[in-house]
Amino acid sequence: MKSVSSPRAGNDVRAQIESLREGIRTHDYRYYVLADPTISDFEYDKLLKRLADLEAAHPDLVTPDSPTQRVGGEPTKIFNQVRHPVPMLSLANTYSEEDLMDFDRRVRGLLGDVAYEYVSELKFDGVALRLIYEKGVLVLAATRGDGETGDDITANVRTIRSVPLKLKLSRETEAYSNIEVRGEVLMNREGFQRMNREREENGEKTFANPRNATAGTLKLQDPKEVARRPLRFFSYYLISGEAEVGSQWESLQLLKKLGLPVSEHAKLCRGIDGVIDNARYWENERDRLPFEIDGNVVKVNSFEAQRTLGAVARNPRWAIAYKFAARQATTVLRDIVVQVGRIGTVTPVAELEPVYLAGSTISRATLHNEDYIKEKDVRVGDTVVVEKSGDVIPAIVGYVKEKRPGGTKPYRFPRKCPACGEPVVRGEGEAAYYCENFECPAQVRGRIEHFASRRAMDIEGMGESVVDQLVTAGLLKSIADIYDLPRHRRELEALDRWGRKSVDNIISSIEKSKSRPFSKLVFGLGIRHVGERTAQLLTEHFGSMDELMNADQDKLQFVSDIGPAIADSVHRYFQDGRNRELIARLRGAGTRFQEDVVKKGGRLSGKTFVVTGTLAAYKRDEARELIESLGGKVTESVSRNTDYVVVGENPGSKYDKAQKLKIAILDEEQFKKLIEKSG
Ligand code: IVH
Repeated sequence: MKSVSSPRAGNDVRAQIESLREGIRTHDYRYYVLADPTISDFEYDKLLKRLADLEAAHPDLVTPDSPTQRVGGEPTKIFNQVRHPVPMLSLANTYSEEDLMDFDRRVRGLLGDVAYEYVSELKFDGVALRLIYEKGVLVLAATRGDGETGDDITANVRTIRSVPLKLKLSRETEAYSNIEVRGEVLMNREGFQRMNREREENGEKTFANPRNATAGTLKLQDPKEVARRPLRFFSYYLISGEAEVGSQWESLQLLKKLGLPVSEHAKLCRGIDGVIDNARYWENERDRLPFEIDGNVVKVNSFEAQRTLGAVARNPRWAIAYKFAARQATTVLRDIVVQVGRIGTVTPVAELEPVYLAGSTISRATLHNEDYIKEKDVRVGDTVVVEKSGDVIPAIVGYVKEKRPGGTKPYRFPRKCPACGEPVVRGEGEAAYYCENFECPAQVRGRIEHFASRRAMDIEGMGESVVDQLVTAGLLKSIADIYDLPRHRRELEALDRWGRKSVDNIISSIEKSKSRPFSKLVFGLGIRHVGERTAQLLTEHFGSMDELMNADQDKLQFVSDIGPAIADSVHRYFQDGRNRELIARLRGAGTRFQEDVVKKGGRLSGKTFVVTGTLAAYKRDEARELIESLGGKVTESVSRNTDYVVVGENPGSKYDKAQKLKIAILDEEQFKKLIEKSG
């Protein structure tokens, strides 16, 4: 990128931009490397936004290593191939303590019989990555590929916030500005589950485990999509060129000082005993980590010793992978049943001969969908392999050929809904089948459960079994019936296991739910393709139920991140008379139908401003800070949700739009008065 300095961009702007960048980098470092942030996410986002605004006003000052440039990449068709000058080797695997002692014996045999220092690290179950920094700036990120050549995935990797775009160079580290770093990209279990949940809600294919999700994400052609996925990075290998480093342990310390994330669980051990202790520890405690590991990697610490040991074939002789026992078990597949979810999704579930696996007995496992069963060709009666990975629900990963009994038949997916008997229909371009009967009892239950769930209206005490009981008793036929329950005290108290106290409790949680935010209500409606995030986007954009309900597909698609499938689904939902009736009843019940605009504190709380044109007494950022310090919000574009448009010299189209929408327009004098009055 060519950087010509603009005559208008004064030194103060330049300095301000640089100081914001430094600040953000420091916060990234504190967050991702030290795991010790000093500001809130909100404050961080504010800094980032301020930087983005300044850069937008001074595009000539944008540099590729700016924290704003993580998502700038354009979609690519194919990845360029890159050669790895130092091949990316793989490690020999071992599975027992005996193997580890053999490894140590070999090392001692080759180097002389003393106790060696080993670094025992976590073996991250992710995807290997190679990073090149030149003059302290990230210039290349590549996959391992076949070890000799991989894909150039720089644009994707730039979006991973824990990968620094620029190294932290100080007097101590300045010799390491041209380095290669290797490490692993992975996903935390929680982020993986959240992502899968969203994908399921959107009718997209879910991933089997965090590693597959990571690999799939890194291969995406659109960096903007990658940026939304919860990837993180750990570094574990440094190639420092000319600059001297004596050992693996030193490398790890150095990587950390350079601003790269290094796991805090690497351990320096003297002799193989410490290594074995550490392996035992992690084999038991692996679930305490927020991400998946599949073993330990044991490395001879001294680089001189490593050089002496060298490599045979594709494996270095100075390192070994100690793999934990796989968390798989085999058991008999008794039956395949299908469950019907709240939006009618029909999901096949395996019923298993109970088997003990990594801490719990399991008797059910997911089979995902029809295609998955076909692909794995699992049949009732098979001995199947179940695996526990990142997901809470175990999955069937295959069957044991030798154990297939005679007379098994390929599984035929049911053509009728098991709950209501109506035909099921496969979603266009989707792997899932749906029951389209709105009154299907399984769906009714599912919808009510979803509405009452913690992430939606959070009605305490209204879990699966209570909903089931109330539906069976005929007290709940629709979501809206929930708000009629307080009028049915008698019937409630007469139910099995219910008493005055439990009825009081549920009535008070129902009351409480009326003040849940508008976005939670919209999420709670259970509109197909509308997960938590989408609900938030919709409610922020439209501000009220009426605006949302009456938006046509075009208006819906106008919301960023809302595509045709979601727009269509939302539109269809609100066109349906049964849903309109539900909305009317919810309105009558007094649930929130508007975006919550009253934020705490400040005289300008809940007010949204747009500033356009040049103000004489304030820089754009100063005006923004003033408004925000008084509790107001500043946005970029004028919409119906804007309360005031502050207009300076030479305003642009925002002024016209404000007039058209009849939004209050303040000139600088009026703005000043408003600030004084509020401050
Ligand atoms: S060191 C020559 N350290 O395991 C040694 N690898 O089979 C280079 N891995 O491809 C690798 N955690 O993807 C190393 N702490 C760790 C690791 C690790 C996971 C992966 C890596 C590599 C594979 C080796």
